[in-house]
Amino acid sequence: MDSIHIHGGIPLQGQVTIQGSKNAALPVLAATILTKDTSVIHNCPRIADVYHMQALLDSLGCKVCREEKNLKIDASQVYQNVMPKEAITGMRSSVVLLGALLGRCREVTMEYPGGCVIGERPIDMHIGALRAMNVVFRETSQGMHAFTSGLKGADIAFHCSSVGATENVILAAVLAEGTTTIRGAAREPEIVALCEYLNKCGAAISGYHTGMIRIEGVKSLHGASYRIPSDRIVAGTYLFGCLAAGGNVFLRDAPAQQMCSVIFRAGQMGAMCQEAPDGIYVQSPERLRALPAVRTEVYPGFPTDLQSPLVAVLATADGVSCVEESIFEDRFRIVPYLQLMGADITVRGRRCACVTGVDTLAGAAVCAEELRGGAALAVAGLGALGETVIGGCEFINRGYENICRDLRELGARIYSV
Ligand code: EPU
Repeated sequence: MDSIHIHGGIPLQGQVTIQGSKNAALPVLAATILTKDTSVIHNCPRIADVYHMQALLDSLGCKVCREEKNLKIDASQVYQNVMPKEAITGMRSSVVLLGALLGRCREVTMEYPGGCVIGERPIDMHIGALRAMNVVFRETSQGMHAFTSGLKGADIAFHCSSVGATENVILAAVLAEGTTTIRGAAREPEIVALCEYLNKCGAAISGYHTGMIRIEGVKSLHGASYRIPSDRIVAGTYLFGCLAAGGNVFLRDAPAQQMCSVIFRAGQMGAMCQEAPDGIYVQSPERLRALPAVRTEVYPGFPTDLQSPLVAVLATADGVSCVEESIFEDRFRIVPYLQLMGADITVRGRRCACVTGVDTLAGAAVCAEELRGGAALAVAGLGALGETVIGGCEFINRGYENICRDLRELGARIYSV
């Protein structure tokens, strides 16, 4: 798929089922190597990042088998602990294999993940915490070599919240000697999913809803089956798609309890969102209202991954909105494309965007430069008059199973070429 074509301005109607969560699936799949058994992970989304993780597990020695949405991982053999450069550059989040491989093999060699288009994304917190757990890091020609004579529990205090660093410490701590505590731990639902899976495997993790996680190291883990929860970011993208195009949709399996900040903001814009046991009903107003001040925050605040789709929606809301990005410094890269479509947006520094709502956007040829920005361009295209053509779709495929299929189910005129 090279480009997505959207004929916008058609109100959405109908229902769509939300896929499993990318950011929950990736660490859970990495965690499967901490057992010498088989795990079955249900509801794994069929997206490029999960295929990449499958291939990585395969290259480490696991036998990975997919049946529809379910992945069976036989981790009885892990004979490789060198992760080639492409593994990290192809998918930055493969860094979560650092903690898992240390737990399984006591050593790992991998490239340093560099910055990426949404920001610098250092891993100093991962390294500092693992050092406190008796891991030694050395520079080699193949990247960093991390090894341990035996992982030891430690008291870790993070100065700011990091999803990836919290995941790496949890993965290293479950088989470590002694107890690990993580103060200032991330509280995202993806952390909860990882801990639920590991506890099913026999780990002893508590406090993972609270920001203060306690992990009692155990001698060994066994395989387990686990169902990946639905993707709150995909659900939020389609919710915003409905606000941009207008209409009335049902997002089946959308995890409403994880989406309070998104539902709250949609309500402030004038939308009606009704939570049901099996999803969320969304009804768009005649004209959206602007949001005077929105800031991205760690969970349960407004997620950075939905900041770009929100900006795309606010482009046609009535009034002036101010959006502040507090997590990643380079997440306004779609602004020039939205401006090409007629949006009135001023970016102040790298962290703030001021959006003055216009009546309508006009379709244009635009290009996805990263995953969530690409999805946001699709949101903008749904509301724009005329045709929007989005290039760079490989970025969107990293996190969305089939955005065209899903939005067509809601009545959009969207197809890929
Ligand atoms: N940070 C550091 N040092 C570290 C780690 C993080 O300074 O060692 C900073 C980052 O630069 C950033 C902040 O801490 O400013 C938060 O980063 P975090 O570590 O929480 O992000 P991440 O684990 O790299 C995950 C998701 C992202 C999501 C963020 C924030 C996965 C695979 N990725 O990234 O998702 O935006 O948490 O919620 O779970 C996406 O799905 O498109 C995506 C980018």
